[in-house]
Amino acid sequence: MCGIVGYLGEKNSKEILLGGLKELEYRGYDSAGIAVLQDGQFDSFKAIGKLVNLEEKTKDFVTDKFSIGIGHTRWATHGKPTELNAHPHLGSESYVVHNGIIENYAELKKELIAEGVTFLSQTDTEVIVHQFEKNLKTANSAFDAFKTTISQLEGAYATLLVTKGEEETIFFAKHGSPMLVGINAENEKYFASSDTPLIGHCSDVNYFEDGDFGYVTPDELAIFDVTGVKKEPVFQKLSTNKLSAQKDGFRFFMEKEIYEQSTVIADTLIGRLCDAEVLFDELDPTLFDGINEIKLCACGTSYHSALTATYLFERHAKVKTSIEVASEFRYRDPIMTKDTLFVVISQSGETADTLETLKMAKAAGLKTLVICNVDNSSMVRLADACILTRAGVEKGVASTKAFATQVTVFWMMSLYLAGLKKALPQEEIARQIALLREVPASVKVEDEMHEKIKRLSKRYLHGHGFFFIGRDVFYPLALEGALKLKEISYLHAEGYPSGEMKHGPIALADPELFTIALLPQHLLYEKAKSNVEELSARDSTICAISSIAFDKADDFIPINECKDYMLEFFEMMVVLQVLSLEISVRLGNDVDMPRNLAKSVTVE
Ligand code: G6P
Repeated sequence: MCGIVGYLGEKNSKEILLGGLKELEYRGYDSAGIAVLQDGQFDSFKAIGKLVNLEEKTKDFVTDKFSIGIGHTRWATHGKPTELNAHPHLGSESYVVHNGIIENYAELKKELIAEGVTFLSQTDTEVIVHQFEKNLKTANSAFDAFKTTISQLEGAYATLLVTKGEEETIFFAKHGSPMLVGINAENEKYFASSDTPLIGHCSDVNYFEDGDFGYVTPDELAIFDVTGVKKEPVFQKLSTNKLSAQKDGFRFFMEKEIYEQSTVIADTLIGRLCDAEVLFDELDPTLFDGINEIKLCACGTSYHSALTATYLFERHAKVKTSIEVASEFRYRDPIMTKDTLFVVISQSGETADTLETLKMAKAAGLKTLVICNVDNSSMVRLADACILTRAGVEKGVASTKAFATQVTVFWMMSLYLAGLKKALPQEEIARQIALLREVPASVKVEDEMHEKIKRLSKRYLHGHGFFFIGRDVFYPLALEGALKLKEISYLHAEGYPSGEMKHGPIALADPELFTIALLPQHLLYEKAKSNVEELSARDSTICAISSIAFDKADDFIPINECKDYMLEFFEMMVVLQVLSLEISVRLGNDVDMPRNLAKSVTVE
């Protein structure tokens, strides 16, 4: 997702800022920019696309004395990736960079526009700088104006602000998005949204806590906590290993991405939930006019999240929903009628087979929607409408957080449609919205659970195969669990609907067949349980995942008691991801780059 850097000191700040942004490239971005204040003069540059474009624009710009500067790589959320939407954003004489989402930006923007402020971008970020300049008119100091501004923002953010009247000061605030500050013996100050840009420049770093805000000058680092009380920085020595810094200390990107799910799901939800209504500002509700059926089309993991959607859309929105594997759909002369909304799901937005089906649907005159993680990707550009999943860049080839955010979007979309079509009572929509807000907590990886799976994994390294079984939405989850294991362990694994066992697969049951059974308390528990008992009676080795202890299982991984089956879904999803990870680690495989697989499959 977006990246922030900041610098205060006497070195060439352009090079330091661009170097810092380069270190954040791995997070993904679609535009970038810097602003530098030197000798009372601001210079600012922005470019869309890769950093080389920004380097080209700044090639004649040098700083050779004291300056302050801020920089940003932007991953578009509010507004397209254009130069105007790229950060830093300018007020009259201040610049701001920001990560996260300002939830109340629309309200603030409306007030500012009514007061005569002109906005240049479509971003939520721009309100920060205008709000600051409004507050500056009546405040005793720039810091007071900044403090007031921060208190007026709702949502998640990490932000840096510089202003002409304070040539030696960078203001900062952190609430929900990561940021740290680094110092060194040369009295320089460095900011960034993760460690890597600071490696090699700073000896000691302070990681800001939520609610922290303050300012730096050459001689001072002033940090205040959420209540406004001044606090001492807590310095730590900085690691010197860049790759491990990119992995935030985790062994693998996949592991980091599993742990990140709580944060990215919170990003997916932000600004989209009211008490009794789901909002997708990016959708024009007329998209659904005249629609009697939804057709979903995708590949791989995205297909599994979409399969989950078929259950949710029919159950909540009472809309007929079907699904196809894209590589099949494109060659089977499908019947496409204009009362069908064609929805493609793709993490990358570039998968060749899925893209082709989108083109077919467009050619047949169908309305189209894409659920995607990459703005400005081919599918996003082509489809009539788009919902971004906001998972950030996923580096592990085995998809985890992309899947989690896709399912989150589908759950939200089922309620959005239910609202539009009045298919569920308001109270039920409100109940489920409250549950959605609990998803970030339910996907948090608990140490105890991870340790247990780590220990258990040694018993699942051989055998002649794995069955992952579940019913209803736990069937797509079983498919996804089996795919994860296959991808990174190279062990044979299949996902099945629990009720299908007796129609063939159960012939394989013996102690060397491992069955991973998903037993949610709140959905068809008794039915699923008797399917597992049938396997247990044939001596298959069973690992049950449930909140209810199950005595017919050889192994049992407990999940927390949940209020609803969808929360159980997310809890079990994490268990399956961690199980695959630990089995793969024990087998000594390359977790992040499994053999024969690619992250984005742009060929047929
Ligand atoms: C590849 C990836 C999978 C992904 C699939 C579809 O096979 O390895 O993780 O699920 O492509 O990709 P998409 O970007 O369309 O979701």
